[in-house]
Amino acid sequence: MVLSSSLVTIALALCSALGSNAAPPTAKPTTAVGKLPALGWNDWNADGCSISEAKVVAAANAFVSRGLKAAGYQYVNVDDCWALKNRDSSGRITPDPAKFPNGIASVATQVHNLGLKMGIYSDAGTNTCAGYPGSLGHEDVDAATFAGWGIDYLKYDNCNVPSNWTDAASPPGGNWYNSNSAIRYRQMTAALDKQSRPIQFNLCIWGQANVWTWGSQVGHSWRMTGDASATWSFILMAINTNSQHLSSVNFYSHNDMDMMEIGNGALTTQEQRTHFAAWAFLKSPILLGTDLAKLTAAQIAIITNAELLAFSQDPNIGVPAKPFTNAGSPSTSTPEYFAGKSSKGTHVFVINTGGSTSTRTVNFSSVPGLGSGTFTVHDMWTGKDIGKFTNSYKFSLASHDTAAFRLT
Ligand SMILES: *[C@@H]1O[C@H](CO)[C@@H](O)[C@H](O)[C@H]1NC(C)=O
Ligand SMILES: *[C@@H]1O[C@H](CO)[C@@H](O)[C@H](O)[C@H]1NC(C)=O
Repeated sequence: MVLSSSLVTIALALCSALGSNAAPPTAKPTTAVGKLPALGWNDWNADGCSISEAKVVAAANAFVSRGLKAAGYQYVNVDDCWALKNRDSSGRITPDPAKFPNGIASVATQVHNLGLKMGIYSDAGTNTCAGYPGSLGHEDVDAATFAGWGIDYLKYDNCNVPSNWTDAASPPGGNWYNSNSAIRYRQMTAALDKQSRPIQFNLCIWGQANVWTWGSQVGHSWRMTGDASATWSFILMAINTNSQHLSSVNFYSHNDMDMMEIGNGALTTQEQRTHFAAWAFLKSPILLGTDLAKLTAAQIAIITNAELLAFSQDPNIGVPAKPFTNAGSPSTSTPEYFAGKSSKGTHVFVINTGGSTSTRTVNFSSVPGLGSGTFTVHDMWTGKDIGKFTNSYKFSLASHDTAAFRLT
């Protein structure tokens, strides 16, 4: 008795020396939000560190005036550089008064008054990527601060990780959920769970630590790659990477292919169509990453396409379209043929990854769940039926464009 109680005392003393929570938290993300891929905007690709209340409120107003809210876009998300470099005397992150003179809560109220939701950014390290305060070790105070401001979405980045938090080559028991990376994110999941306000949680972990194997136990979406760029090579790489991990995607569980670059750089119209269509049919979050006021009418038409958004946001079917082998088509380094179901039927998406316009033939018997026979082919881009076709449908597809069909 004496021996065992002193062992208990030693064990308790060790526990408190190691911190109050020796076992990492296992809290799961809320199911009050995050069922479908988030639709919204994030300032980073347009503004980098020069963010301000004026820019965020302008973006929120543009959601309404440019028809984005009506199309389903909801989240107005602030990225890095919104804070002061030092926490206040009570340990709270403080908005930079030069950028947000009325604080973040006031911006969130303005966003909410437009019927939209407000997102913010922090980091699972000592500092954010741009050197502002990170939330590692401050999860509870920061989650409470964000909830108190009326935040609805948290993008949680992966910069400035202390050396004792890096991962071994293989995590304990081979389970990446128990890696140090996952535990850094799990600490924030637990802190968010303590708040009365549900907050959608995005793990901006750049595809590290096999995040697709554990992401849905920790957050609602997780970044699969490094940062997007407005290039065709990035779009292909993101499609290729995500195509290998589509069994992780379902309700409350989304591979994040990063922000849209439509409006930035020199992507062709066809490349912009592929960028949007692939993010929609693979059920990635779609966060517009440009100055919304500068989008052309043609770009607005792409990003508000009702049928592609309906596929992304289908309330009954959570799984994405997946690559299939189309009989008669050559194999390509990035898959070109994808098929999936929606509440309205079977859909086929065809990407021309080649450098010139070419003829494509969808073989109905190759499409999972379809088979040979006669089907009405409907063009999701135009919203019109093309006609009835038996066994296959042949069409011309421009370089880097994506065709989107429903077959019934
Ligand atoms: C790293 O060190 C900090 C500070 O001592 C400590 O709080 C934390 O638990 C350590 N992390 C790991 C994974 O051991
Ligand atoms: C479609 O695929 C099937 C099975 O591989 C094949 O028998 C048929 O000839 C193909 N049809 C066309 C039009 O290529």
